[in-house]
Amino acid sequence: MSELHINSFDIHHFTSRFGRELLNSYLKFLIAHNNYSYVAIDEEQNKFTGYLICGDKTEKSINLFIKNNFVKVIKLLLKNPIFIIEKINEIITKLIPLIGKKSKTEMRVFIIAIDNKYQGKGTGYLLLKALESDLIKDSISQYGLSVRKENKKAIEFYNKNLFKIEFENKKSIFYIKKLVVR
Ligand SMILES: CC(C)(COP(=O)(O)OP(=O)(O)OC[C@H]1O[C@@H](n2cnc3c(N)ncnc32)[C@H](O)[C@@H]1OP(=O)(O)O)[C@@H](O)C(=O)NCCC(=O)NCCS
Repeated sequence: MSELHINSFDIHHFTSRFGRELLNSYLKFLIAHNNYSYVAIDEEQNKFTGYLICGDKTEKSINLFIKNNFVKVIKLLLKNPIFIIEKINEIITKLIPLIGKKSKTEMRVFIIAIDNKYQGKGTGYLLLKALESDLIKDSISQYGLSVRKENKKAIEFYNKNLFKIEFENKKSIFYIKKLVVR
């Protein structure tokens, strides 16, 4: 999963700067703390091609991960100072909720990533469908996610998959998708 993460996320994502070891524990941590995780596999090639992690504790799990790996994360920020202002803004927004809008939905896709050789072949769509089918079974009627504004491929993908914009801030677009629960 870490390898796939590194080859599918570009340098604008802070996690793309994590080394393999920190990324491994990050992904393990997120899967352990969130209820909906999926992988896609190319059975012919016996190859792991994509994954999706979703849950209603994404923020809590990131905060706990940072707390548990505080020194490593600080070292990484010092090595990549371009992310320092971004992280400070995130902290201020969390501390003073009136400054930053908050999504109405706690259930969030935290990461979706497809191996770059497999992108554009419907794998992301299948992962979303698997998630939505389980959310509907669990009577969850909406979920959300956010995407960085420069990630045009992903924005196009979410628009095609009928997500609606909930709000935007300087860095990201927040999307929400309603599900039909019978
Ligand atoms: C965004 C992402 C998850 C989409 O998954 P996917 O399996 O490639 O998408 P699908 O094949 O199901 O859907 C294809 C649509 O997504 C968009 N898209 C996905 N990959 C694309 C690519 N490599 N080039 C152009 N468009 C792409 C297009 O709108 C495309 O529609 P089209 O085929 O009609 O042109 C995948 O591209 C990815 O992992 N990107 C890198 C990681 C990332 O940015 N994750 C999202 C973070 S919020």
